[in-house]
Amino acid sequence: GNDPRDGEENLGFAEIPHALDDQHHLPADYSADVLLRWGDPIIAGAGPFDPATLTAAEQERRFGYNNDFIAFMPLDSEAAPGEGERHSQSRSSERGLLCVNHEYTQPHLMFSGYNDEYSATRGVSASHVAIEQAACGHAIVEVEKTANGWQPILESPYNRRITLNTAMDIVGPAAGDRRLQTSADPSGQRVFGTVGNCAGGKTPWGTVLIAEEGFGGAFQGDPDNIADPLEAKNHHAFGIAPDNRNWGDHDHRFDIGVEPNEPNRFGWMVEFDPYDPTSRPRKLTNLGRFEHEGFTLVSKPDQPIVAYGGADDEHQFVYRYVSKNTYRPEAYAHNRDLLTEGTLFAARFDEDGSGRWLPLVFGEGPLTGDNGFRNQADVMIDVRRAAALLGATPMDRPEDVETNPVNDCTYVMLTKNKKRKADDIDAANPRARNSMGHVLEIVPPGKYGARDHAADTFKWNTFLLGGNPNAENPAERGAYGQQSPGAISAHGWFANPDNVAFDPAGNMWVATDGCESFGFHDGLWAMATEGEMRAAPRHFFGCPQGAEVCGPEFTPDGKTLFVAVQHPADGGDSTFDKPMHRWPDNDPALPPRPSVLAIYREDGKPVGS
Ligand code: FEO
Ligand code: CA
Ligand code: CA
Ligand code: CA
Repeated sequence: GNDPRDGEENLGFAEIPHALDDQHHLPADYSADVLLRWGDPIIAGAGPFDPATLTAAEQERRFGYNNDFIAFMPLDSEAAPGEGERHSQSRSSERGLLCVNHEYTQPHLMFSGYNDEYSATRGVSASHVAIEQAACGHAIVEVEKTANGWQPILESPYNRRITLNTAMDIVGPAAGDRRLQTSADPSGQRVFGTVGNCAGGKTPWGTVLIAEEGFGGAFQGDPDNIADPLEAKNHHAFGIAPDNRNWGDHDHRFDIGVEPNEPNRFGWMVEFDPYDPTSRPRKLTNLGRFEHEGFTLVSKPDQPIVAYGGADDEHQFVYRYVSKNTYRPEAYAHNRDLLTEGTLFAARFDEDGSGRWLPLVFGEGPLTGDNGFRNQADVMIDVRRAAALLGATPMDRPEDVETNPVNDCTYVMLTKNKKRKADDIDAANPRARNSMGHVLEIVPPGKYGARDHAADTFKWNTFLLGGNPNAENPAERGAYGQQSPGAISAHGWFANPDNVAFDPAGNMWVATDGCESFGFHDGLWAMATEGEMRAAPRHFFGCPQGAEVCGPEFTPDGKTLFVAVQHPADGGDSTFDKPMHRWPDNDPALPPRPSVLAIYREDGKPVGS
């Protein structure tokens, strides 16, 4: 509905221009602290970063590579480590745990001489592989707002790295299944590490969800050598191929010729408790296995938990999970099972603006032995195939799917899909060769601010189509709600929506991944979702060249906005030895470094107000 209660008239910042250079850009009257960079110590005693002497053991004590999702988890100064229940009630905006994904490594930007070594022999050293594996995963770092800006606290008992060596449990319907068993883990219930950690989500009981997205590239080998044709098809579908990166040469579990089931232990959502530094993360197999962008929660007292997620690949699906039991704000132990008992659904977007959630349950409809499914484990391991059989709508690469807490509608970021042909467009994916991406609005039944996210049906509409609203080529022409083209400034348009966040006033903040193809940096654009200014973006932040911006995250008071600048100086023939620039340090002794920024208004008022 068009209730003008959120967002309107409160995005008063001075818009920045589309640009492309070696700097990051903010509106006048805003500042950014460079809070955490690749290689920065996060454990007391680790010295200054020296990329020339970096070891895997050193990397385990330092901030990892290619920061992506960020969760700010407030700290209650009265509570101790392990008391997640109390910490999760805190609304602190000045002290908390910054929980940051490290999606993937780029060795040509991390190591001197790597390109020569790689192209000459493909015989990359075991030590480089071990450093890469220690640079992936996640970091938990206590941070504090001080008189000198935001700072990490290296002595904190919470600080921790999660890497490809961290032991994790596998829970849910696929746990223990024969397709998850390996020689190192005949139980199929214990796995080391996580990779491809893109976006994620938070729970109101104080845990963090992190996604395993592009895991296929970590595995090498030829799926056609696997006898079971459905398993070969499964491995192909995630891009596992003989020419993938060389981790399997040194760590044989990443070689499917040695461990054909290891890939089935990746591609899940991972949950961990940042408030308990001794806790073991767990992979939640009832959220399905695919290239997860993330899962974000809608949590209402005495109602089921609803979580939304996207599968970031061409022609893949939007998913929703509904817990079996209801959320009880005071019942921590009870709530810990909400993400392990429930039902996953895939979305069908119908031509008339309605939609339906299709349950992914073994034995129902086509999800039977006739189609190769033995049990619910198979449905979850091959959930993309199951969703396609149910008739879910193949989408233009769903990235973040997140609910605006003010109007209670859910927004789907569809980044692009150049593989969509003219004869397979539909109302929800209306462009052939979609290079610009778009955003859909899902409106569950019910009133403004109080909608039923667990219902089987919904309404949907196109919130915006990325691109310049004045473009001559209709295939690239943007459309922003009901705004006239003249209402969008020359710098207000964008393409390739990826991550999204909502500020406390209900404004949408979209992070992009791909705008350099259109001549300007990736960055952040903010807009109202209701009222006169609905879907009218204003440009707030710009990345240094080569980077995308990920993980926008507000503190509860809206006064700090954390962003993760990922893969700065990536592109062309940029390498460690000859980088396109050296953001953020601009020091000839240091390479470009993916970094988290803490952005705030210099007068202390909420960001965007
Ligand atoms: Fe890792 Fe979907 O971007
Ligand atoms: Ca990315
Ligand atoms: Ca992403
Ligand atoms: Ca992306």
